[in-house]
Amino acid sequence: MLNSSSPLTFSVFLLLILTTGCQTEAGYTVDRVSSPLIELGRHLFYERRLSLNNDRSCGICHEQAKGFTDGFVRAVGTTEAVHPRNTLTLLNVSGRRALSWVDPNLIGLERQILVPLLGSDPVEMGASELIDEMLDELNGDPRYQELLATLDSPALDIELLALSISAFVSTLGTYDAPYDRYLAGDSTAIGELAKRGERLFFSHRTSCSNCHGGVDFDQPTHDRHGWFNTGLYSIDGGLYPNSRQGLYELTGAPADIGRFRIPTLRHLALTGPYYHDGTGATLRDVLSHYNAGGRLITSGPYIGDGRLNPYKDHRIQPLDLTQPELDELESFLLTLTDVTTVHRSEWSDPWLRTD
Ligand code: HEC
Ligand code: HEC
Repeated sequence: MLNSSSPLTFSVFLLLILTTGCQTEAGYTVDRVSSPLIELGRHLFYERRLSLNNDRSCGICHEQAKGFTDGFVRAVGTTEAVHPRNTLTLLNVSGRRALSWVDPNLIGLERQILVPLLGSDPVEMGASELIDEMLDELNGDPRYQELLATLDSPALDIELLALSISAFVSTLGTYDAPYDRYLAGDSTAIGELAKRGERLFFSHRTSCSNCHGGVDFDQPTHDRHGWFNTGLYSIDGGLYPNSRQGLYELTGAPADIGRFRIPTLRHLALTGPYYHDGTGATLRDVLSHYNAGGRLITSGPYIGDGRLNPYKDHRIQPLDLTQPELDELESFLLTLTDVTTVHRSEWSDPWLRTD
């Protein structure tokens, strides 16, 4: 089972929040995304009282200093349960449609937010049983009373919570990385090495841009998203490790073994480790796997030659790039990171903490 099994009352309140001009159960009128709504969402994004053991919030796993990821190989929830997958960056997430490494049907931020909050497989924030008590507690906090007053809302309910967090999350991201400035005409925004790397990235020889296309470098040629097996494992004739089989876990179709959503290549300098399960320690490791046409694992439980995975996409083939060419490609990828995202005060944790 994946963690995307949708909690119960979705459809009812989804309708509510997607329809403009209607009221949430607690009486907040949904008409537009406003700055008070975003500000409420920022407080809730960093709110640890929304987790079972008061030690998780969205912002704990999606940390600003780490490009809104956690730096872990795989995420760890409030009950110490280890998530099967690596934390995705929230930067530029408003451009994405299907919001998960695996599930093409998890669409819409308001809906996605309930997965970490209320989901039980795995437990991330573990709020499902206690959500009413948690909301009561927040409604009693003067800080939230002030924020709710700016919204003319009598109380915080689950709809307003999802709406405001998603309004905040939608503001995260930029299109002002060095490469964007280069494309906008500033020829000095990126160096010579990166310019050579750009040519390699967009070449037939590497076919990187075939899958990592579009403004977010996550779009395959004919669709908004694509799910592919890139030959990271081949256990017992083609499997990936248990609970990390990708799209196959939803469809049961062998052709879907090891297929994961193409991730964005923006902000990579901040978001390592890489891959759906965080097993790409560095960008250079990732590039070496592509150069070899897949990943050979020679020891440990996952021994096997991913280069020979029968479900691997045909475009993942040995590239024969030299070390200087790998430097160029890496240098280009790093120009897609906007380091100012780390310092923006409007995205920072509004709660004063002593720990
Ligand atoms: C325990 C750590 C953890 C917590 C807490 C957490 N997340 Fe996540 N988040 C993850 C992981 C891991 C993924 C990747 C999940 C997957 O694909 O299966 C993810 C994925 C996402 C995505 C999808 C991004 C994309 O590119 O598709 C969004 C949006 C998101 N989280 C928002 C939130 C919000 C909002 C909260 C707070 C309500 C939150 N997360 C809490 C770990 C966490
Ligand atoms: C067939 C489509 C496809 C092609 C071609 C492709 N990629 Fe990927 N890329 C993916 C998928 C899918 C993943 C996620 C794999 C996983 O985690 O199992 C990925 C992951 C990555 C990552 C890790 C990002 C992260 O946040 O985890 C980087 C970096 C990357 N690719 C760069 C490249 C480069 C550079 C090239 C060209 C040499 C390339 N890709 C070619 C589909 C592709």
